[in-house]
Amino acid sequence: MIDPTRVPFANLSLQWKQIKDAALPDIEKLFDQSAFCLGPWVASFEKAVSEYLGVKHAIAVNSGTSALHLATTAAGIGPGDKVLVPAQTFIATIWGVLYRGATPILCDVEESTATIDPAEIEKRIEPGVKAIIPVHLFGQPAKMKEIMAIAKKHNLKVIEDVAQAIGGTYEGRKLSGIGDFGCISFYPGKNLGGAGEGGLVTTNDDKLAEHVRSLRDHGSREKYKHVEVGYNYRMEGLQGLVLGHKLPLLNAWTDERQAIAKRYQEAFKGLPIDVPQIVNGDHVWHLFVIRTPHRDKLREHLNVKGIDTGLHYPIPIHRQPALESFAIDRGNYPQADRWASQGLTLPVFVGMTQEQQTRVIEGVRSFFNE
Ligand SMILES: Cc1ncc(COP(=O)(O)O)c(C=O)c1O
Repeated sequence: MIDPTRVPFANLSLQWKQIKDAALPDIEKLFDQSAFCLGPWVASFEKAVSEYLGVKHAIAVNSGTSALHLATTAAGIGPGDKVLVPAQTFIATIWGVLYRGATPILCDVEESTATIDPAEIEKRIEPGVKAIIPVHLFGQPAKMKEIMAIAKKHNLKVIEDVAQAIGGTYEGRKLSGIGDFGCISFYPGKNLGGAGEGGLVTTNDDKLAEHVRSLRDHGSREKYKHVEVGYNYRMEGLQGLVLGHKLPLLNAWTDERQAIAKRYQEAFKGLPIDVPQIVNGDHVWHLFVIRTPHRDKLREHLNVKGIDTGLHYPIPIHRQPALESFAIDRGNYPQADRWASQGLTLPVFVGMTQEQQTRVIEGVRSFFNE
C-alpha cells in the first residue's frame, strides 16, 4: 500500500484508474472465453502497437528479457560470437547474449546520456563481433545514426533495447524500428506496463518475424510440428488486454513525464549536481537520474523528508558477480562507474501531483541549503 504522507517512487494504481471502467467488462469476456494464452486480445494489441511504432511486425512475448533472447537467437548469434553492449544498463540487456553461449563485449557509456558511446563501439570491434545492442537507457535514445553507420560498415546486426523508451523518437523515427530488431518490456513499472510480465519483439523483416513467432511458441509454425528448439515465451491474454487499453493513453502519459522532467530541470539549475539533459532525439523520461558525489547522503535526506528514490543501477555490468568468470576488463569503464556510483533517480510518474513535484524539488534544494 502506498503511504499517503510520502511521495512514492511510482503509483501504478493511478494508471489502472484511467482504464478500469473500460477494461473490466473486457476482462470478464476474456475469462468467459478462456483466452488466456495469446488469443484475440494479444493479436489486436500486436496490430495496434505495430501501427503505433510504425513497424511491420510486432511479436508479443512474456517479458523484455525473452524478447532480447529471441532477437539474439533470430539474429543468428551463437557460441563463439561476440556482441557489443553498454557497460551500464539493466543486466537483462546481456542475458540473451549469454543464453546463446556468446560473449558480451562491454563498451563504456556517454558521459552525458548513459547510452552506449559510439567511439567505444569503434574501439572495441574485433574478429567475431556480430551485433550491437544499444540501450535507450532511462528513456533517452542511444546515438542511432552513428551506431547504424558502424553496423553497416562492419556488417553487424543491431538489436535495440527499447525496454525503457517506448514511444521515443530519434531523428523523427520511432525507436524499435531503426535497428534489425526492437525489444520492449511491459514490466508493470515501464512507461507502458502490463498487469504482470510482458514484452515485444519488433522487426521490419518478414523472415526474421516468422522465425521469432516460431521461437516464441516451441519452435513450431504448425501445431505439434517442431522444426527447431523453441521456447514457451507467449504473451498471456490478460497482458494483451491491459496493454491494449493503455496504449491509446501512452502519448499523453509521455507528455506528463516530459512536463515533470522539464520542471525539475528548471528548478535544479545552479545546484551542484548533474541534471539529466536531452542530448539524443526525444526523451520519454522513464527515469530521471541526477548525479552527485553525495548521492547516498542526499538519498537519506530525501527519505527522511518522505520522498522515495531509486538507484539505476548501482552495480555496472563489469562489476556484476555473474560475469566474474568472463574475461572482462574491470577498470576501464569510468563513465559507467560514475553513473553507477553517483546516480540517484527521482520520482517521475503518471498522476504525480504538482505538490508532490514541489516536495521533491524542495527536498533536493534543501540538501544544498538553497
Ligand atoms: C534496459 C532493460 N533491458 C531489459 C529489460 C528486461 O525486461 P523485463 O523485465 O520485461 O524482462 C529491462 C527491464 O526490466 C530493462 O530496463
